Amino acid sequence: MNFLPLIEAKREEKILAPEQIQEFIREFTAEKIPDYQMAAMLMAIYFRGLNTDETTALTLAMRDSGDVLKFPKDKRPLVDKHSTGGIGDKVSLPLAPLLACLGFRVPMISGRGLGITGGTLDKLDSIPGFKTLLPAAQITKLVQQVGCVICGQTDTMVPADKKIYALRDASGTVPSIQLITASILSKKLAECLDALILDVKFGCAAFMQTKADALKLAQAMVALGNQCGTNTRAILTDMNTPLGRAAGNWLEVKESVDCLDNKGPNDLRELVIDSAAQLLVQTKKSKSLATARVLAEECLNSGTPRKKWDEMIVAQGADLKAFNKKLLLDSTAKILVEIKSDRAGFISKCDARIIGEVIRDIGGGRLTKESSINFDVGVDRIAKPGARVEKLGLLCRVHAADAATAKIAGTHLKAAFKISARKLPSLKLVQETVG
Ligand code: URA
Repeated sequence: MNFLPLIEAKREEKILAPEQIQEFIREFTAEKIPDYQMAAMLMAIYFRGLNTDETTALTLAMRDSGDVLKFPKDKRPLVDKHSTGGIGDKVSLPLAPLLACLGFRVPMISGRGLGITGGTLDKLDSIPGFKTLLPAAQITKLVQQVGCVICGQTDTMVPADKKIYALRDASGTVPSIQLITASILSKKLAECLDALILDVKFGCAAFMQTKADALKLAQAMVALGNQCGTNTRAILTDMNTPLGRAAGNWLEVKESVDCLDNKGPNDLRELVIDSAAQLLVQTKKSKSLATARVLAEECLNSGTPRKKWDEMIVAQGADLKAFNKKLLLDSTAKILVEIKSDRAGFISKCDARIIGEVIRDIGGGRLTKESSINFDVGVDRIAKPGARVEKLGLLCRVHAADAATAKIAGTHLKAAFKISARKLPSLKLVQETVG
C-alpha cells in the first residue's frame, strides 16, 4: 500500500473512505507501514480531525485488528464500565461483583496506570496471588461461571491500539477527541457488550481539564458506541478532589473492600451505585434511575457482592487467607506519617493533582511505561472538602517506603489542602448524564 497519498489527503483536510482506513490499519498492524508514516498521519488527524464516519471506521478497524471476545447466549446481559481515570478512582473493583450479583456478566478488561492516574490492574496486582493476565478462553469461562472478571487485554486483543497508542504517546497526539474515542471504544467493543457506561472525568487531575471538553469527549463516545450497536451512556464526574479517602494501589483495594462491606466513603458508594443504576436502566432491567438505585443499594447492602468479590479473586488465583490477613494491617508500607493541619477550619480544597503527583513520586505510580511500582505506598484518611479540621487535626496519612520520601511528600501534601473559616457548599460528584 502506498500510504503517502492518504497522509497528504488528511493533511489537506480531505475525508478518508472507510475502506482506506480499514486498509491502513490492517497494513500498520501487519508492520507494513513504518512508524514515522503513521506518526505523520496521527499528527494530520490531530490537526484536521475525523468526521463521524471516519471515526467509526477507525474504531471498527482497530477492534477488528485482533480477536474479539465471544460469549455463549445467556439471559444475563454483558456490561462494562470505563473511566477516563483519576486519583483514588477504584469504582471498578466494587462495581464488577455488584453487577454480577445484579444479574449481569462483566468482562471488565482494564488497564495500568501511567503518570498520576492509577490503573485497575496495578491495584489488583497488590492482592497476593491474583492474576491479571488471563487467556481469552479463561476470561470467557470465568465470566460465565463467576459472572465477573477484571483482567488485562490479551496480546491478541486490539493490537492496533497498542501500537498506535505507543506512537501517540511519543508524538504528542494523545489529546485528540477522535483518537481517544477510537482507542477506548475499539477495546470496549472487542468485549461484545450489550451496554457500556462511561465515566468521563473532568477537573485538575483528569485527562480533560474542563467540563466542556469532557462533555465533547462523552458525546463523541456515546454517539459512536450506540452507532456500533452497544447501548452507551456517559456520566460526567468531578475529578478536582480524589475519589474516596484513599489513593495508592493496595490502599484502594482496602477501601474497595470497605465499600463492599458497606463501610466505605459516601462518594465512592454513590458512584458505584450510580454506575450500576445506569446499566440497569440501559439494559431495561429497571424502568427508572430511581428504582435502579434502590435495587443496586439493596444488593450492595445484602453483602452478596462482598462474597462475589472473594469468589472472583479466588477464581483469578488469589490466596484468600493471605489477602484477609493483609486487610487487617493498618499499613503495609515501611513508614506511616500523619500530616496535620496548621490551623482550624473547614477543608475548602483537596487538590487531587497534587495528591496524585505525590503518590507517583513516592513510587506508587509510573513515570514511564517500564517503571516498576510500589503497591504499598499511598495516602489515606484524606480530609475531604466540607470536613471540619482542628488545629493539629489530621489532613491525611502518607504511607511511604522510607523516611526521606515521607518527609518530602508531607510538605507537598500540606499544599494540597486549603482551609477556610466558612464551610463552602459541596460540589455534586455526578454532574451530568449523556445519552
Ligand atoms: N485511554 C485509552 O485507552 N486511550 C486513550 O486514547 C486515552 C485514554
